[in-house]
Amino acid sequence: MQKVILAADHAAFDAKEKLKNYLIHKKYEVIDVGVYNADRADYPEYVKKAVFEIKKYHAYGILLCGSGLGVSMAANKYKGIRAALCRSPLDAEYARKHNNANVLCLGARFNSAEEIIKITDSFFHHPFEAGRHFDRIQMFQDLGE
Ligand code: RB5
Repeated sequence: MQKVILAADHAAFDAKEKLKNYLIHKKYEVIDVGVYNADRADYPEYVKKAVFEIKKYHAYGILLCGSGLGVSMAANKYKGIRAALCRSPLDAEYARKHNNANVLCLGARFNSAEEIIKITDSFFHHPFEAGRHFDRIQMFQDLGE
């Protein structure tokens, strides 16, 4: 069973719940690290919780906030995380094929629940193509160390 770590802030609470139900229906094993209600919350805290679980289980993560920008910026501060903000299935396809993204970031104020499901399906459908793309990822993954 494919494990997926889910996190969101208040702006994306509803979207996260809908996506979680879909993923469970599709037989993914979901670990939801919050938020658990729509009270105002700070997305970096939930990114931190999610990254802990992503690293522990070598799992994929899906992070949602209003725009998807905040969670992607925060997640990419962590070594080994390649977080991609995707607003379309094509973004998600290339995030996997060329960038081997292990975290999908979504903006609940920019994409509908239906679009979010399509983007997520695309993310999990496309494998990393490796080859020259592997070498390019090696070139940047240790920057800032
Ligand atoms: C919260 O209002 C909003 O700023 C947050 O969800 C996110 O969009 C930040 O990047």
